[in-house]
Amino acid sequence: MTVIAFAGKGGVGKTTLSSLMAMHLATVEPPVLAIDADPNSNLGEKLGMDIGFDLSAALTCLRDVPEGMAKHDVMAVKAREALVEGEGVDLIGMGRPQGPGCYCFANSVLRDVLSMMAESYRHILIDNEAGMEHISRGTVSSIDVLIVVSDPGMAGLRAASRIMDLAEELEIAATRKLLLVNSVTEDMRPALRERLTSMGLRDYAFVPFEHDIRSLNMEGMPLVGLEQSAAYQAVARLCDRIILSVP
Ligand SMILES: Nc1ncnc2c1ncn2[C@@H]1O[C@H](COP(=O)(O)OP(=O)(O)O)[C@@H](O)[C@H]1O
Ligand SMILES: [Mg+2]
Repeated sequence: MTVIAFAGKGGVGKTTLSSLMAMHLATVEPPVLAIDADPNSNLGEKLGMDIGFDLSAALTCLRDVPEGMAKHDVMAVKAREALVEGEGVDLIGMGRPQGPGCYCFANSVLRDVLSMMAESYRHILIDNEAGMEHISRGTVSSIDVLIVVSDPGMAGLRAASRIMDLAEELEIAATRKLLLVNSVTEDMRPALRERLTSMGLRDYAFVPFEHDIRSLNMEGMPLVGLEQSAAYQAVARLCDRIILSVP
């Protein structure tokens, strides 16, 4: 089982690329679990699946659990309810943390639920919010592949570079860290390569700009029918190169 986490600045394409990757892995090595860890979630929209009840909502149910009943058992049942089943890929939403206060207990419950669910899947993909909240809070304990997404802009690349450093500091045991520069057009490539080299970013891949992705997004439509597109193919190649080769 491999855990693949996406990180990066807002709007750079984390949700788009995690969806394409989830779709591809679902065809080559199912079953896949896609986790929407962004409170402003839209992974469901991209995958064409509807998250109704999320894990944060499940946590609020724990308040009513009678004394003497194991909260973790109740949470396990609730987490199953939150799971949206699809073809080759299931989806679960973390939701928005509810109310003020310490999330330590909530986080530990989420961690347990995730590790319990993890046993049923070949690949787990986590579409993170712009920060690294779930990663830095330890909800997601071990990551095999950290994919940091950036657009071709300087701000995205700087944010990506910082996330790479943060991952080092937090000692996230990622077997592999990779930068995915998204929405790249042909004419940008030479200058981008130079910039990445000068920033000391060596392990990277490009995903082309795709008009169809833009149009589907404008219509609020799932990312279906893109298998022949250059962007999908780039993601598929990446899977073959780094994910399907992880032992
Ligand atoms: N390769 C691409 N080509 C064209 N548009 C893209 C591409 N990747 C992402 N987009 C568009 O960029 C915007 C942000 O993408 P999204 O995946 O929601 O980013 P994030 O999850 O990082 O906030 C969306 O409008 C999306 O359709
Ligand atoms: Mg997103």
